[in-house]
Amino acid sequence: MNDIGRVITEIRMEGTSVLQKPDEFMLIGRGRSAVVFKIPGEQKVLKVFYPDFVHLARLEASIYQELSNNDYYPSFYEGGEGYVVLEYLEGLTFYECLIQGIVITEEMIEKVDQALNYARMKGLNPSDTHLQNVMLLSNGGVRVIDVVRFRQTRICTHWEDLKVAYDHFYSTRFFPKKYPVWFIEMIIRLYRKGLIRLKKRK
Ligand SMILES: Nc1ncnc2c1ncn2[C@@H]1O[C@H](COP(=O)(O)OP(=O)(O)OP(=O)(O)O)[C@@H](O)[C@H]1O
Ligand SMILES: [Mg+2]
Repeated sequence: MNDIGRVITEIRMEGTSVLQKPDEFMLIGRGRSAVVFKIPGEQKVLKVFYPDFVHLARLEASIYQELSNNDYYPSFYEGGEGYVVLEYLEGLTFYECLIQGIVITEEMIEKVDQALNYARMKGLNPSDTHLQNVMLLSNGGVRVIDVVRFRQTRICTHWEDLKVAYDHFYSTRFFPKKYPVWFIEMIIRLYRKGLIRLKKRK
């Protein structure tokens, strides 16, 4: 068993709660299907799927193997039962940028578009690209994380909808660039309930 294999046996989760983990592994992110730990002393993270989502690990590993030679995606190092090891990205998700008031530029949006186009070129169907799945790096680069749903056949409009919201509201002069968490969460909830519909400008 390698080091990561050993670490995995020391992590205990129930539902979406982490009950036990090695002290030196800092929890740096959470999603609907996994938690992400920084691996100490290395520029790597360990993404561990919740018990009900363990099956997604091999799927995500195989998708990363197709994408991670491209600069817009984190490098993929290894995968196993319920986990993947990826390059640690130092920076902020676009969600965190909105909260901290760090301006999301058109150039950043274009970079995400290029990343998603690359995935399409590889025969994938980029899906679930939302504010917490795109990151602005400290060096100005942009990365798309969380590619686990890139092989689904269903059409996902999350990213297109975000771009419409960006064009209509965010990029206009009068709109603030910094938002409280409760406000963003309220918009996300309304959007998920289908109470906000966005139309592309002709
Ligand atoms: N390579 C990475 N480097 C740094 N932080 C990361 C990395 N990968 C993920 N994170 C952080 O962990 C969070 C959760 O990771 P991820 O989006 O992969 O989980 P998920 O459960 O698949 O998410 P979702 O709810 O979108 O399905 C991210 O939003 C981000 O904050
Ligand atoms: Mg995510």
